[in-house]
Amino acid sequence: MNRIYKIQKVMLVKIKECEAIPITREKSLDWERIHMVGCAKIGLSLAGRRGVDPDLAAMACAVHDFGRIITGINEGHAEAGYGPVQEFLAKLGFVTEDEIRQIAIAVKNHSRKGEIGSPLEELVKDADLIDFRQYGFDFEREDQRLRYERIAEDIG
Ligand SMILES: [Fe+2]
Repeated sequence: MNRIYKIQKVMLVKIKECEAIPITREKSLDWERIHMVGCAKIGLSLAGRRGVDPDLAAMACAVHDFGRIITGINEGHAEAGYGPVQEFLAKLGFVTEDEIRQIAIAVKNHSRKGEIGSPLEELVKDADLIDFRQYGFDFEREDQRLRYERIAEDIG
């Protein structure tokens, strides 16, 4: 079993555990499952042309909404995931310290769609928007729309 499979499998377990937390959720856990797998797949397909390691791309995409998965709150969820995702990844035993550091930064910054970050950060932001849009949802923010237009031009 490779790490791309493993990270999605452990995220499905994590999401399952979150079913027991009695909180109001802005996005359903069904959506979190679908979006987690969708983003991992898209991240993997973007990795080669972006010069990003495929494992790193898929792992970062799979965990990017960790903050919302554990809190149920959308506002500030990227920043909310920064610490918890590091703890989560460190316990898995198959993600290196350097990868955890890079993934956590991508998690923290993924909502800043109007800013440009590292290739991994950019890949996570783009995978997030591509996956969201493919289900027919409309973007709420201008920075999301502008980024998506650029991606759409780029990938046709
Ligand atoms: Fe997000």
